Amino acid sequence: MNTINKDTYYRDHWVEVEQERVDAYQELFKWRPEMDPLLAPADIQEGHIVVDYGCGPGGLSLELARRVGAGGLVHGIDLNAQFIKLAVQYLAEEGFAERTQFHHVSDDRIPLPDQSVDRLICKNVLEYVPDVSATIAEFRRVVKPGGKVHILDSDWGMLVVEPLGHEKLAELFAAAEHAYHTPRIGRILYSEMKKAGYADVAVKILASADTRGRSALVLHNMVNYAKTGGDIDPARADALYAEIRQSIKEGTFMMILPQFLVTGQL
Ligand SMILES: C[S@@+](CC[C@H](N)C(=O)[O-])C[C@H]1O[C@@H](n2cnc3c(N)ncnc32)[C@H](O)[C@@H]1O
Repeated sequence: MNTINKDTYYRDHWVEVEQERVDAYQELFKWRPEMDPLLAPADIQEGHIVVDYGCGPGGLSLELARRVGAGGLVHGIDLNAQFIKLAVQYLAEEGFAERTQFHHVSDDRIPLPDQSVDRLICKNVLEYVPDVSATIAEFRRVVKPGGKVHILDSDWGMLVVEPLGHEKLAELFAAAEHAYHTPRIGRILYSEMKKAGYADVAVKILASADTRGRSALVLHNMVNYAKTGGDIDPARADALYAEIRQSIKEGTFMMILPQFLVTGQL
């Protein structure tokens, strides 16, 4: 078992990301046209100033930069210094350097003034922050009156992975759970946004079934988290992953991880 601090691992595994994961994320996080419904409620317009909180290597930032046009600006913010470098490089290569600014942060604060942005988007990040309410309050601070905060996140308690069934998936997830601060984030987002005082909060759930194994990387990471400090025999975790790989080969695999889209209007 590798030595880790189980209390801070949910954050540490983003501060230091292994090269293999970085390479995989650059592909996994790229925006694809079929993802457009995820952004629809945010109503991004040309000329908007938009924050991409937890931007990773910049896949969503690129799509936001396209949408805000030459008169807009995207601020990408992330805890991982390497992702920030990669995002700067990616957006420059794609010709969007002038309408993007990237910020490396380590204190859960947004380095922007009060009421200075039109939209704040946060995709698949809030399960990793130490204080969800404080981060949502920070989002509210930077958004202008009339602006929107749009949060997209999963709820790991609603994950379906066949062929594992309920018990084996629960065994694997229990061993990996220290990699998430708030794994069941999806279901609390609505009440967290209401408590934070947004005037109007809308919730949608989008779910699709991956039958081709496109999301296998997510499960591969989960197995590695489980093997890094989790209460599972590493050979058992590998055996569960082998079952998953086998079902992908046989064409019987299916993974469903619903995405909560929670949009607050200020
Ligand atoms: C699952 S990735 C999602 C990346 C991107 N938002 C996307 O969906 O394509 C989570 C991202 O959140 C970042 N992150 C984790 N905790 C954070 C925190 N407390 N503040 C800012 N970024 C954080 C990680 O470094 C990583 O880039």
